[in-house]
Amino acid sequence: MRLKSLMSIGLALAVVLTGCSKSGGSKIKIGLSLDTLKEERWQHDRDLFVAKAKELGADVLVQAANNDDTLQNSQAENLLTEGVNVLVVVPHNGKSAATIVASAHKAGVPVIAYDRLINDSDVDLYVTLDPVNVGVQQAEYAVKHQPKGNYVLIAGAPTDNNAALVRQGQMSVLKPYVDRGDIKIVADQWAKDWSPVEALKIMENALTKNNNAVDAVVVSNDGMAGGVIQALSEQKLAGKVLVTGQDADLAACQRIVQGTQSMTVYKPLNLLANKAAEVAVLLAQKKPITDPTSKLNNGKIDVPSILLKTTPVDKSNLDSTVIADGFQKKEDVYKK
Ligand code: GAL
Repeated sequence: MRLKSLMSIGLALAVVLTGCSKSGGSKIKIGLSLDTLKEERWQHDRDLFVAKAKELGADVLVQAANNDDTLQNSQAENLLTEGVNVLVVVPHNGKSAATIVASAHKAGVPVIAYDRLINDSDVDLYVTLDPVNVGVQQAEYAVKHQPKGNYVLIAGAPTDNNAALVRQGQMSVLKPYVDRGDIKIVADQWAKDWSPVEALKIMENALTKNNNAVDAVVVSNDGMAGGVIQALSEQKLAGKVLVTGQDADLAACQRIVQGTQSMTVYKPLNLLANKAAEVAVLLAQKKPITDPTSKLNNGKIDVPSILLKTTPVDKSNLDSTVIADGFQKKEDVYKK
């Protein structure tokens, strides 16, 4: 009897000890709440983030919400119930995710907005690859190669603050061209949930309405660029019309090689995921963040924000960027 109870004490102690980090405190638990894993990039984000967090001695609980606000909110509640020390959120809906921040704060848990900002909330930190600059890079590429003509603009999800920031960046470049009359915007639409199918339909309509007289399509990401290029190829126009993108998805890199997509914006997700994991651990430990931060207003507060850099990529620098970094493999990108 005595021996038995001694043994169970020993067992309990062992459980406690394995749950402890080297420093003696209990192991940090990070909750990662993702909007979706549909676009290829989010799978990279998840894998890179989890790997870095592990390296830093933290555990990560991951949830993905399939573009569903209600589901994302309840998944976040579950993570809080699981006792996470910090919550990292890629919001589907930049506005309704404010509820997540409020619940987390009630439980004393800090929140990091990952890639996309959470509006109208007291979110603690925002880490992203500067979305305004993504839009600038897309539009600068477009006007450099097609300084005049009919433009179609296809923006991302109206529920995603990034879609608005990317559009803001695009317009800052395009506006003077439009004002001068060099560029005419013949269609301008936003696609629900960054949907490639919706982008395809928008493009089909734009082509019909303009008797195929379209010179450039400023598309906000690669998934949608895929839909746009399908619509263009139905009219035998693929490769003849400038098309932009974002994310350096494998399919987009292949289209760049084939000549149907003009460019993409490469977002080095390892920088984003590593930085987010580092600051998540610091916040969980209640330590200060020493990175230089900008301030981005989210409708309620100026959110301290870490803005990382992106690179515009076309045929000429695909090898020296996306492939050299190991983001995509050469044999995959150049596969016939
Ligand atoms: C945005 C992000 C883009 C793209 C898109 C689709 O928030 O800025 O890079 O990935 O989501 O998920």
